[in-house]
Amino acid sequence: MFMILLLFVLKHVDTTLLGLSREEAQKKPYIASMGIYVIKKDVLLNLLRCQFPMANDFGCEIIPAAAKECIVKAYIFNDYWEDIGTIRSFLEANLALTDDLPRFSFYDDTRPICTSRRNLPPSMINDSKVMDSIISHGCVLDNCSIEHSVIGLRSHIGSNVSLKDTVMFGADFYEADVERSRLLAEGRVPIGIGENTTIRKCIIDKNARIGRNVMIINSEGVQEADRSSEGFYIRDSIPVIPKNSTIGNGMVI
Ligand SMILES: *[C@@H]1O[C@H](CO)[C@@H](O)[C@H](O)[C@H]1NC(C)=O
Ligand SMILES: *[C@@H]1O[C@H](CO)[C@@H](O)[C@H](O)[C@H]1NC(C)=O
Ligand SMILES: *[C@@H]1O[C@H](CO)[C@@H](O)[C@H](O)[C@H]1NC(C)=O
Ligand SMILES: *[C@@H]1O[C@H](CO)[C@@H](O)[C@H](O)[C@H]1NC(C)=O
Ligand SMILES: *[C@@H]1O[C@H](CO)[C@@H](O)[C@H](O)[C@H]1NC(C)=O
Repeated sequence: MFMILLLFVLKHVDTTLLGLSREEAQKKPYIASMGIYVIKKDVLLNLLRCQFPMANDFGCEIIPAAAKECIVKAYIFNDYWEDIGTIRSFLEANLALTDDLPRFSFYDDTRPICTSRRNLPPSMINDSKVMDSIISHGCVLDNCSIEHSVIGLRSHIGSNVSLKDTVMFGADFYEADVERSRLLAEGRVPIGIGENTTIRKCIIDKNARIGRNVMIINSEGVQEADRSSEGFYIRDSIPVIPKNSTIGNGMVI
């Protein structure tokens, strides 16, 4: 049994204990917990239920205290790692996957990435310009321009849409053409991004509905905003469209 938890602790220590040479240890005296812990299930339950029922934090409380009685070992990881605890670092780490020589590569037989199988069809890309981007399965890109972006599963992107420096999560389901037509006829917004919309440096969560003739460019450079009634937030000057939100036709952000 193992658990993966995302925690982050930075400590100044003697890193020769972890196998670095004296010289290397002087250059690299800090260790950060990557938050990946492998713990026997019965030990974990005992720690949480009996020994430390009030503890909130593995890295600061439970593991250091458990080390007094249990066998606790740390392994050094001296490779690419990124903390994605802020909106900006999350966006930048995702976009970095599109670099010419990405620091992390998914395209490596020796490091397989296991994800849930969805058996989606390949993406259908019609008359579009796609540069420096990653496009997931099941997308429909119709006469649009996508640059330096990561596009998730089942994304539907309409004609004359321009997307740049954007992470789009995609959708959990498809909307059939008849459903899309019905929504459009009623003046409502189907899942995906409607015609003529321009988006720059934005995070779009799953199942978002972004209308036609929308501009998400944060032209005024707003740092922080909570406009959830209109379907968005701005964090560290990055517009974020939360899950299931709708951005109405013609909106300018
Ligand atoms: C792609 O383009 C072809 C030719 O214009 C058209 O028949 C087809 O419906 C288009 N697909 C989409 C998803 O727009
Ligand atoms: C694609 O969009 C461009 C404008 O971005 C437009 O000029 C062109 O007619 C469109 N092509 C199709 C097949 O819709
Ligand atoms: C897209 O923009 C063109 C030119 O401004 C306009 O003629 C067209 O109606 C727009 N499309 C939609 C769906 O609003
Ligand atoms: C494409 O959309 C832009 C707005 O982003 C608009 O100015 C332009 O007229 C549209 N082009 C066409 C061919 O619809
Ligand atoms: C999004 O909508 C789905 C149903 O369409 C619902 O199950 C889910 O809880 C919603 N999530 C959020 C964060 O609103």
